Amino acid sequence: MSDHEANPNQEIVYKQIFINNEWCNSVSGRTFPTINPATGEKLCDVQEGDKEDVDKAVAAARAAFKIGSPWRRKDASKRGELMMKFVSLLERDIGILANLETLDNGKPFLDAVDDVRATIDVFQYYAGWCDKITGKTIPVDGDYFTFTRHEPVGVCGQIIPWNYPVAMLSWKLGPALACGNTVILKPAEQTPLTALYCCALFKEAGFPPGVVNVVPGYGSTAGAAISEHMDVDKVAFTGSTEVGKLIMQAAGRSNLKRISLELGGKSPLIILADADVDNAALWAHSAIMTNMGQNCCAGSRTLVQEDIYDEFVSKAKLMAENRCVGDPFDAMTAHGSQIDETQFKKILSLIDSGVQEGAVLEAGGKRHGDKGYFIKPTVFSNVQDNMRIAKEEIFGPVQSIIKFKTIEEAIERANNTNYGLAAGIITNDINKALMFSQSIQAGSVWVNCYDIVTTQTPFGGFKQSGHGRELGEYALKEYTEIKTVTVKIPQKNS
Ligand code: TAP
Repeated sequence: MSDHEANPNQEIVYKQIFINNEWCNSVSGRTFPTINPATGEKLCDVQEGDKEDVDKAVAAARAAFKIGSPWRRKDASKRGELMMKFVSLLERDIGILANLETLDNGKPFLDAVDDVRATIDVFQYYAGWCDKITGKTIPVDGDYFTFTRHEPVGVCGQIIPWNYPVAMLSWKLGPALACGNTVILKPAEQTPLTALYCCALFKEAGFPPGVVNVVPGYGSTAGAAISEHMDVDKVAFTGSTEVGKLIMQAAGRSNLKRISLELGGKSPLIILADADVDNAALWAHSAIMTNMGQNCCAGSRTLVQEDIYDEFVSKAKLMAENRCVGDPFDAMTAHGSQIDETQFKKILSLIDSGVQEGAVLEAGGKRHGDKGYFIKPTVFSNVQDNMRIAKEEIFGPVQSIIKFKTIEEAIERANNTNYGLAAGIITNDINKALMFSQSIQAGSVWVNCYDIVTTQTPFGGFKQSGHGRELGEYALKEYTEIKTVTVKIPQKNS
C-alpha cells in the first residue's frame, strides 16, 4: 500500500535541458518525443541535447569545479546538509516523481514509489559520507610527513538507462556529489522525465549553478559526446555491454578518462533438491519477473536439480499465469509494460527463437492486450545451454528453466558465460551454499534470497558485466583521486 496517489494525468513541467541551474532549449532547436509505453502514445516533446549542448554543460561543470568556486569552498559538512535538503524535497514530491516514472517507464505505480524511496535512501546515505571521506597518514622512511588526500575526480559524465531511471540517477549522483564532483548526466532517451524533475529540486535545495547538469538526448549523439569529451574527467555508465565497450574505446581515444561500467548479465539462480519447492519457485519467479524482467541482475537462468524439476516447472508455470498484468496505475497490477517497441519486438523474437530451438513453452509467449508494449510472463522448460534464451540477455519476463544433476555441474554451467553480475542459490545445506558462493564468478551472490540490493553494499560485475562498484563505501573510490602529499620535516641540527 502507498500513501501516494496514482495519477495518470500528472502534469509534465520540465522538458528542457538543465545547465548552470537554468532551463534552456537545444542549440540545434531539435526535440524528441517521450512515449508512454503502456499506451504507445506521446507524453510530450523534450529538448534534444547534442554535442553543442554537452559542450555548454561541460563548461558549466568545469567552472563550478574551479578551486575557489562556491562548490569547492563549501565545507564538506555543508555539502552533506545540502544533500539532506535535496532528500527532504524528494520526500515531499514522492508522488509526483512516482507518477512521472510510471508514465515514462510503464512500471506499476507502487513499484515506482518504492524506487523513489530507494532513491531517497541512497542520497541520504551519501549525504552522511560527505565529511567522512578521509585519507591516511603513512609512516614513510626519512624525515618526511606524508599523508593522502581523497579528492574529487572533477567533471563527471553519467549515462544512465531506462529500467530504473530515478534510482539509477541516485546511484550515480549520490557518491559523485558526496565526493565533491560536478556532473553532466544523460538520462535514457526513453525516460528523461524524472531526471529533469530532480533538476528543479537540486536548484530549489540550493545547489550552486553548474554542479548538476542534465542533458537529455540520444546515446549515439549526446552520450557519445560525453564519453569522447576532452574535458570530462570520468564517465560512469549503466547499460548494455555493447555500449559499455564503446564508452571504453571513446575514453581510450580521447583523454583516458576514468570509467566505471555497470553492464548486462545472464545471472543463474540454482535450486537444489533439498529446497522447499514452493519457496524456491517464489524466489525464482520474482528474480526474473521483477520490473518486467528489465533488470541487469535478473535471475534469467533458473537451474533446477532433476529430482524436483517437474514439480518446480508446474509451480513456475502457475505463478506466471497468475501474475497480474495490466494498467500500471491500477493498484492490483504487478506487471506493467516493457519499455518500448524495440525491446518489445526483441523479446518476442527471442521467445520465438526458444520455441524454434526446441524449448517447451509452458506459459505466456505472447503480447498482453492490444495497445502498449505488454508481454505475458513467459516460462520455458527443457532449456538447453546452447539455446539463445539461455545465452543472451533478454531483458524481458522470460524464465528459462534448465535441468541439472549435481551441484558441481550446475556451478560449471552457471559460470559458462561472459557475464558475471549476480547469482543465487536456494538450499538448506550451508556447506553447499558456501561452496557455491566461493566458486561462482559474480559480483553479488544471494543465498536463499535473490536481488537483495542494499544501499550500504557494493554492486557490480565480474567479467563483461562491468568495471568498478556502485553503492556503499566502495562507490566513493570511483569518484575520488588519491593525492600523496609529502612534507620535509626540518631536523634540529640540519
Ligand atoms: P543502451 O544502448 O546500453 O543504453 C543505455 C544508455 O546508454 C542510454 O542512456 C543510451 O542512450 C546510452 N547510449 C547508447 N549508445 C551510446 C553511445 N554510443 N555512447 C554513449 N551512450 C550511449 O541500452 P538500450 O539500447 O536501451 O537497451 C539494449 C539492451 O541493453 C537491453 O536489451 C538490455 O539487454 C541492455 N540494458 C542493460 C541495462 C543494465 S541496467 N545493465 C540497462 C538498459 C539496457 P539512449 O537512451 O539514447 O539509447
